[in-house]
Amino acid sequence: MARRPKYQSVCGLPMPLGFPVDALRTAFDFVPRSGDVVLATYPKCGTTWMQHILYLMHNDGSAIPVDASVRELVPHLEEMGASFVRDLPTPRLIKTHLAVSPKLFNSDARYVLVFRNPFDCAVSFYHHTRGFTQHYDFADGSFEDFLAVFNAGQVDFGDYFDHVCSWLDVRDEANVHCTTYERMHANLELEVIRLGEFLGGDAGRAAADAAVRERIVSAASFRSMARDQQRWSSRRPEGMTEFVRKGIVGDWQAHFSQPALQALLARTLARLGGTPVIDDWDEIIEQVRRSCESP
Ligand code: A3P
Repeated sequence: MARRPKYQSVCGLPMPLGFPVDALRTAFDFVPRSGDVVLATYPKCGTTWMQHILYLMHNDGSAIPVDASVRELVPHLEEMGASFVRDLPTPRLIKTHLAVSPKLFNSDARYVLVFRNPFDCAVSFYHHTRGFTQHYDFADGSFEDFLAVFNAGQVDFGDYFDHVCSWLDVRDEANVHCTTYERMHANLELEVIRLGEFLGGDAGRAAADAAVRERIVSAASFRSMARDQQRWSSRRPEGMTEFVRKGIVGDWQAHFSQPALQALLARTLARLGGTPVIDDWDEIIEQVRRSCESP
């Protein structure tokens, strides 16, 4: 019988059990201010990676210490609540998984968007959902079980495509910087330079300095972030994958059946065809197409 992760409905969104409901409610009323750097992503698209990069760029390339937590240094608005974010030092570095809204988008704040191809995102989200057993009660769920809720947009923070399309609407604004997980994977140093040019100030100087930049790229590498994982999340039960799990492009190849791949490809082309984000995924889309056609 198909299994389903457990969720609670909050403000119209399915959310994991135990998610701080009151904090989430305050997030919907939060208005960023001048100087803020808002990192907006759909879950499992490289958020923690970019949180660490933003921290490194604002701290002269020093990594998040082993006894500190990213959740307090670059807090998740919906989890920590608007009152926690209000008291952060300037520039406030803020993570959100909410879709864009008139309140959340302020032309005086700056926005960093990270997109990831939906195939790898779904795989990563599956392992995340299995691993946090106390939140989703889905330890025995299969990838197919998870894909059914992912495709229906009934996972935490809602539908992948609705989220991505909402932020793509503002992608050309001067205060918005877009990148993809795949670009970061291909050339992290180049992405740090681009981000530095966008952010300017201390972060811009850090990215422009070759020695600091080297520290940033090294501390943000998969190998380095796979160490001391208590910095990123609570521990998972024995036998579950780590939070910083595999860190590759193309893990979809080890998970999808052909019909499931065909269905997600059709939706991807329908929702994202003609948008610039799909250009970054040319090669992936071609590989997916070939996998769909192979006997
Ligand atoms: P995988 O599960 O595919 O390995 P988020 O932070 O949005 O939840 O995203 C988590 C994904 O980013 C996981 O993907 C995780 O392994 C990957 N990730 C985190 N840090 C990374 C790094 N330094 N390099 C590459 N991938 C990283």
